Amino acid sequence: MALIPATTLMQAALANHDAIGHFNINGPDWLETYLNVAEETKTPIIVATSDRIMDFLGGFDFMSQYVRFMIQALRITVPVVLHLDHGLSVEHVFQAIDAGYTSVMFDGSKLPIDENVALTKKVVAYAHQRHVSVEAEVGSVGGNENGLINGVRYASVTDAVKMAATSIDSLAAALGSVHGDYVGRPKLNFERMAAIAEATKLPLVLHGASGIPDDQIQQAIQTGTAKININTEVNTVWTEAVAKALQQKRSGHDPQPILTAGKQAMARLVESKMNDFHILGKSDRLTAMR
Ligand code: 13P
Repeated sequence: MALIPATTLMQAALANHDAIGHFNINGPDWLETYLNVAEETKTPIIVATSDRIMDFLGGFDFMSQYVRFMIQALRITVPVVLHLDHGLSVEHVFQAIDAGYTSVMFDGSKLPIDENVALTKKVVAYAHQRHVSVEAEVGSVGGNENGLINGVRYASVTDAVKMAATSIDSLAAALGSVHGDYVGRPKLNFERMAAIAEATKLPLVLHGASGIPDDQIQQAIQTGTAKININTEVNTVWTEAVAKALQQKRSGHDPQPILTAGKQAMARLVESKMNDFHILGKSDRLTAMR
């Protein structure tokens, strides 16, 4: 199946009280694992590249072509979205769209809200003409993402409503989650989440979902979260599995068993997340909606 924008999948998830999993690509093994798990379990998936590591990944054109190639090579039939995570500038977002990304996030969360809204509007105009879905952020997700450290700033209903007026397709309203590891127990503001969901009617996106306890994930889904972003937990299980395989040194200098252990650990985690998000096995949803 060709790559698709995220809009219909998120709308359907919102209506059905489940959530699409967004998983970050950190190298070829990540992409291969995500696509294989999605296909084996018949689950729609969003695969994402963070703008901050685009040079490491080979750039937008390479990733766009590579994801398309892998979809063909692995005979993937389930719906797949290729998403730009945390687009750092309007120029970068346009580059991703021109390269063939089917979904983009413009992250203007460090700007004053009116500037964030004005730039997001530009992104929406460019993206929607090209059938690409747009995610924006209000408030600020805290934590450490690829070396960038932020404090948490809770999204306000007023800012969320201003942002919704740009015709974005989904909203990352920061409500207490952080990228990377949590220090202490995360505490999402569900009252605010409900108010933002009600006021904007948009599918909400939960960033920094690694390490959020399942009861809060479930409550987020019930409160209008339709897309859930996971990066850190995937990288943690990969690192642990690779470290263990290296320690066991069963393979001498053969990298294959070591990297396979990493892929298997990621596959188990991704499947369990899809199950937690109640999206496992729901790849026929788009067809069912037609
Ligand atoms: P984690 O670091 O909690 O996995 O969050 C990932 C994320 O939100 C990517 O945008």
